[in-house]
Amino acid sequence: MNVVPRSEPIAAPVAVPLPVPYGMLAELTHRCPLMCPYCSNPVELDRRNAELDTESWLRVFGEAARLGVLQVHLSGGEPTARRDLEEMIRHCVKVGLYTNLITAGVGVTPERLQAISEAGVDHIQLSFQGATAEVTDHVSNFRGAHERKLAVAREVRRLGIPLTINSVVHRANIHQIPDFLELALSLGAKRIEIAHAQYYGWALRNRGALMPTREQVFEALDVVEEARERLKGVLTIDAVVPDYYAKYPKACMNGWGRQSLNVTPSGKVLPCHAAETIPNLDFWNVREHSLAEIWQASPAFNAFRGTDWMPELCRSCERKEKDWGGCRCQAMAIAGDAAATDPACHKSPLHGHLLALAEADAAAGVTDYDYRRFTTPDRAQ
Ligand code: SF4
Ligand code: FES
Repeated sequence: MNVVPRSEPIAAPVAVPLPVPYGMLAELTHRCPLMCPYCSNPVELDRRNAELDTESWLRVFGEAARLGVLQVHLSGGEPTARRDLEEMIRHCVKVGLYTNLITAGVGVTPERLQAISEAGVDHIQLSFQGATAEVTDHVSNFRGAHERKLAVAREVRRLGIPLTINSVVHRANIHQIPDFLELALSLGAKRIEIAHAQYYGWALRNRGALMPTREQVFEALDVVEEARERLKGVLTIDAVVPDYYAKYPKACMNGWGRQSLNVTPSGKVLPCHAAETIPNLDFWNVREHSLAEIWQASPAFNAFRGTDWMPELCRSCERKEKDWGGCRCQAMAIAGDAAATDPACHKSPLHGHLLALAEADAAAGVTDYDYRRFTTPDRAQ
């Protein structure tokens, strides 16, 4: 593999001082034993033979720390599919990065967890596709997944590693939010993330089978609000809002190119996990550029930075530096224009259309998933 290390970032001319990214999502691999229909990975998954090697990842972590990144999220696919994960964690610790492992937990033995713990991981996020075995196993298309996850959660706590439960909610499990909360408490988690499915990539493909009704969504919001009060100081609940029924869009990524970056298994650096759904963006790769160069000068990062790119509707709006015009990938998916106002905003001319799509999907009652999988034949392996 050709790696071009550079000791000094090449500073690109920028009009205003750039913010420093404090978080980096490192998608170490797209390999995963589960097949969640809302997976945030792209529909075209990177094959194993396209993945960055260990040496490249270690260099990227060093560059991230020098750039000012404080937290690295080791994710995938399933990051434990990488046999060099412990080496990466040790290196992240060495260069001063807070290291969060995001895992589905399936296939992770107690011995592996012990090694991950000894490497110095700071925190583990464990996904549950349902609060019961029936739902988890169905949504992930993996029999026995739930039981394995329970065992991993107990082992994580036995090792004294702080634990967060991740649950993506949609029509098949949105009624389980109280059970997800109980599950998190019973497993000794201090935090739970309840994220409504975000409709890009795989989830967009499966929107008909995932979209909850408006009533379900508003009931879920009430359940979360009540639980936040009741569990204050015991369990932190982070919620990602359901866009399609919202009045205002989410501040996606807290603004494009403002706080974080994603590195794909093959080394492309993206402003968000779904950015590749936007055509004609030029994503630079860590094989050819340092992370600092990419952050400062890559065309993809500069495409929607700040507010100059915004349509007049957003540029003249008092919320423009609160939600940064919403989500570029959603604008692309619904409006066909990544520079449009996010249709989740009630001021967007497409807001009614978005709502109609959601209601039609929720009413249609599709139940079959198009499960996440490698879609192209693998000739190289
Ligand atoms: Fe946000 Fe633009 Fe809507 Fe204003 S008009 S609330 S900036 S998306
Ligand atoms: Fe790409 Fe929101 S997911 S900007």
